[in-house]
Amino acid sequence: MEIKNVAIIGAGAMGSGIAQVSAIAGYSVTLTDVSASQLDKAKRFVEGGLGKLVQKGKLTAEEAASSLSRIKTSDSFGESVSDADLVIEAVFENLELKQKIFRDLEKYCKPAAVLGSNTSALPITEIASVMKSGSRVIGIHFMNPVPLMRGVEIIRGQLTSDETVAATTAYVKRIGKEPIIAIDYAGFIVSRLLDVLMNETIKMIQEGNRPEDIDRAMELCAGHPMGPCKLLDLVGAEIAMHGMETMMRDLGEYYRPHPLLKKRVLAGLLGKKTGQGFYKYE
Ligand SMILES: NC(=O)c1ccc[n+]([C@@H]2O[C@H](COP(=O)([O-])OP(=O)(O)OC[C@H]3O[C@@H](n4cnc5c(N)ncnc54)[C@H](O)[C@@H]3O)[C@@H](O)[C@H]2O)c1
Repeated sequence: MEIKNVAIIGAGAMGSGIAQVSAIAGYSVTLTDVSASQLDKAKRFVEGGLGKLVQKGKLTAEEAASSLSRIKTSDSFGESVSDADLVIEAVFENLELKQKIFRDLEKYCKPAAVLGSNTSALPITEIASVMKSGSRVIGIHFMNPVPLMRGVEIIRGQLTSDETVAATTAYVKRIGKEPIIAIDYAGFIVSRLLDVLMNETIKMIQEGNRPEDIDRAMELCAGHPMGPCKLLDLVGAEIAMHGMETMMRDLGEYYRPHPLLKKRVLAGLLGKKTGQGFYKYE
């Protein structure tokens, strides 16, 4: 099936980036959120992102303007998904919320629409388990920041059809990213490895290491492009904590989130999105 219209549910850090890369590739995009202010923020984020690409000579001003014109925002869920060939859900990392959205998608979407989730760690089969059919449900795990990161994990649930995988892979390639197939266990490939790294980092901070030293060590000695404290601030501490909790539930005690990680989440020290994590942000 050919994908022309993409609907994105959740206009946060990820949803707005997904809107930007989809619009640049020529898709008509509808971005929806329960928060009107978040939709305004997303539009400004995309405008800023396109502006930077023009400054760097990667897009012409005309291409940036036509990309922006392809993004509509809407606060009506039913209206925004009814015409979509591909839906990408990017709301908070919460199983019940995602399951509710997928149940609604089954009601409002065209029967052939591909229904993707950008979940970081929740098994796709479990999200789809509340639906009548899981054949068109798939994981499309973008990395943060979406416009810059080249890889996208594609996660096939137990019931996902070959057609759904083929249509999703074609979409990911058309937006200029590399699809990587990951098996449907909590955390897939990327979150499973990175969440453990970030949780271990929290333990080391409790033992007295300074965030800036951990980051410099991993950047200068291990060649990581970004140390784990900066990474945790970028991803959001709550996302890493949910990832660990999901993996602990499915894969065992080894994945228990460190109590200090939980405390930081409760204190709102999520990172860039709240302006304060290990570092301060404007
Ligand atoms: N932040 C990352 O680095 C990262 C990376 C990969 C995947 N993810 C995943 O992407 C998803 C979104 O993460 P984020 O960091 O963009 O979160 P975020 O908190 O920045 O944005 C979530 C958005 O969802 C909206 N929302 C909540 N309930 C909604 C509903 N019922 N309908 C429509 N919108 C609703 C919120 O208003 C908010 O704007 C999560 O599943 C997360 O695990 C995040």
